[in-house]
Amino acid sequence: MGIKRIVRAGDPILKNKANEVSVKDIPSEKIQSIIHDLIDTMKQHNGAGLAAPQVGIGLQILVYGFDSNPRYPGEGPIPLTTLINPKIIKYSDEQLIGFEGCLSLDTLRGEVKRAETIELSAYNEKGGHITRIISGFEARVIQHEVDHLMGTLIIERMPNFDKFGFTEELKAQNQIP
Ligand code: NI
Repeated sequence: MGIKRIVRAGDPILKNKANEVSVKDIPSEKIQSIIHDLIDTMKQHNGAGLAAPQVGIGLQILVYGFDSNPRYPGEGPIPLTTLINPKIIKYSDEQLIGFEGCLSLDTLRGEVKRAETIELSAYNEKGGHITRIISGFEARVIQHEVDHLMGTLIIERMPNFDKFGFTEELKAQNQIP
């Protein structure tokens, strides 16, 4: 277990597609210790979520969840969740626009459009297969983290650069709480 260094934008690992984890390896010490490190690192940095490439590991593993989050003070609790080889199999037509940050982008934030509801297929940390329908901020977090596994950063998804900048500046403009 441990806190890892966060890889920041500019490192090519963030632009690569991560490899699938072999399902039989999920219970292994190697994969379990990556999951623990991701959780520890996410909590240390108050992340809403964290994907393995963000700690320099090119595997399709992500974690998310929090009781309360100072980076997203308006959002309610989301249970701590691990997803392995996640696939979003359906996106709702309804999209919501909202500000997102990213630990790999330090304090930069911008508005990103995401499907309001998604249907998700993935493996959990025990190697069990799950399918779930998820809405709202949790769906936003999952779409953000799955993007990391595909080598996509939020900047590439921002439709409006008038709504992009450093957290402090956006707060001063009352763009974010
Ligand atoms: Ni991110």
